[in-house]
Amino acid sequence: MTSRSDTARERFSDYYALPTAPWDIGRPQHAFVAAGDRIGGRILDCGCGSGDLAIWLAARGHAVTGVDFLAAPLAAARDKARRAGVEVTFLEMDALAVGEIPARFDAVTDSGLFHSFDDAARARYVAALRRLLEPGARVFILSMSPAEPGEQGPRRVSEEEIRAAFADGFTVESIEPARFEVVPGIAGAEFSPGGAHALFTTLRRA
Ligand SMILES: C[S@@+](CC[C@H](N)C(=O)[O-])C[C@H]1O[C@@H](n2cnc3c(N)ncnc32)[C@H](O)[C@@H]1O
Repeated sequence: MTSRSDTARERFSDYYALPTAPWDIGRPQHAFVAAGDRIGGRILDCGCGSGDLAIWLAARGHAVTGVDFLAAPLAAARDKARRAGVEVTFLEMDALAVGEIPARFDAVTDSGLFHSFDDAARARYVAALRRLLEPGARVFILSMSPAEPGEQGPRRVSEEEIRAAFADGFTVESIEPARFEVVPGIAGAEFSPGGAHALFTTLRRA
């Protein structure tokens, strides 16, 4: 039987087999750069991919751990970190299991992971974050919004869905319109000029 994870792994592996995965723009998403002064301390980057956000945060002096369930982007991430001369801990693991990590974190960043989950995985992910984080820790999520037309790419997640998903154990501090930048010209990943319409959410563990 094929599990949800196997399917998701295959889907993401297929994207990483392309010359460039659509989201792999070679820099952190602008929404995180704009919020950079609010993201600090011990940071867990969930679904870190090839590491640009984790490396950027580490270069700003933060203690960063990146997790992804695929070895290929993690190998690229470790190589980039080495070349940038910054230390990042990269772990190959399922983000649905981050509640098991014994370390403590002040912030979680999620650039394009949350919107990849179906309803059941979404609930498990939020439960894992609830277990992982202590009161006061923050979660920053960039996810595609229903304002992005068409059906290509990840599922669109509305503000109401975000509020409902995090109703137990989190306070929503802000949900702002943003863009999810993508590599141009990839068939099947064509979004609005300037990037797919997205939402940038800031949550606080209650
Ligand atoms: C859209 S990509 C974004 C990558 C990176 N955050 C960025 O902004 O470039 C989503 C990433 O999450 C990873 N991923 C998806 N589901 C996961 C899971 N359940 N556990 C860990 N990583 C996962 C994928 O392998 C992929 O690298």
